[in-house]
Amino acid sequence: MKKVLVIGGAGYLGSVLTGRLLEKGYSVRILDNFIYGRKSVERYAGDKRVEIIEGDIRNVENVNTSISGTGSVILLAAVVGDPASKARPEQTVETNFLAAQVVASSAKLAGISKFIYASTCSVYGVGKEILDEDAPLNPVSLYAKTKISSEESIMGIADNNFKPVILRMSTLYGISPRMRFDLVVNTMTMTAFAEGRINVFGGNQWRPLLSLDDASEAYIKVLETEQSEGSVYNTGSEKQNFIISDVAKQVSKGIKDVSGKKIPVIIEGDSVDARDYRVSFKKIQNELNFSVKHSITDAAIEIWRKLESKEIKDPKQKVYYNHYFDSSEELIG
Ligand SMILES: NC(=O)c1ccc[n+]([C@@H]2O[C@H](COP(=O)([O-])OP(=O)(O)OC[C@H]3O[C@@H](n4cnc5c(N)ncnc54)[C@H](O)[C@@H]3O)[C@@H](O)[C@H]2O)c1
Repeated sequence: MKKVLVIGGAGYLGSVLTGRLLEKGYSVRILDNFIYGRKSVERYAGDKRVEIIEGDIRNVENVNTSISGTGSVILLAAVVGDPASKARPEQTVETNFLAAQVVASSAKLAGISKFIYASTCSVYGVGKEILDEDAPLNPVSLYAKTKISSEESIMGIADNNFKPVILRMSTLYGISPRMRFDLVVNTMTMTAFAEGRINVFGGNQWRPLLSLDDASEAYIKVLETEQSEGSVYNTGSEKQNFIISDVAKQVSKGIKDVSGKKIPVIIEGDSVDARDYRVSFKKIQNELNFSVKHSITDAAIEIWRKLESKEIKDPKQKVYYNHYFDSSEELIG
């Protein structure tokens, strides 16, 4: 079986991607330091296809041991999101930039041919045009700055044998074994459930969105095509470039479909988030034949059902919010 190392495999995307890789016949090794707990990987206890290593990418030995014996490496581990990076700036630079360089160099030395790095469309920050992969980068947070520095250092060591792929992902949404309620679609659905309304600040700022399942599919496409090697791809769909007030309307529609409840969208004040960008996804569509299958309304319906059935009991627990860095409440959830 082909073995893939998923670094950050216990996280929001990593725990969904791991499931998809297993369905596709891969075996998976996860390296994670479990900042948000380990519940998301408990399901794999006793599963011979999954190996779990508790370790930190800031520790070179942990990195080398984890890479050894794998065929491909996917680097997801990071301090993720603008608020989290603001709360922990040193950890952000160490993890997102310094350690990412070490991981890429170790992968190259180990002869790993397929190295995929999770970047973000947040690198574009603010822009008026529809931004393709060659557009100027305009980061508005430490998080985005560290992602750009890593992209540069990873591409800087590329050669004929080591051809990394960088996926600049849209903002993700949907249900995950490691749930996050600090991402726009998930937050709006949770607020609608808890408070019976959706508050939008500003509302005219553009943001590309992408479901977890579609994002996972993009990683599998990259693993399975040689053409992607050495490239940067914006990852998402032009159909899912939304202004935030339209995201709220889509969420509200999903909730009406599933519950019959009419959730008002209340627009007030200005956004505290400076990001405002529309992204071109032509390259990934044309070169990798990538298209999306899931929608915001589907995700809102799924999240609503999990809240209503109490499968997720308390969505306000800190463990669902990256900027708290706290897994202590995981046991009650
Ligand atoms: N969620 C999004 O909307 C989004 C959008 C674009 C890009 N991305 C990128 O995708 C990747 C995954 O994001 P996510 O939403 O799954 O985040 P997440 O915070 O849920 O997952 C990150 C995982 O990495 C682990 N980790 C953090 N620091 C580590 C370290 N030093 N050593 C080992 N493990 C460590 C954490 O324990 C966690 O399991 C990130 O690189 C992020 O920048 C995410």
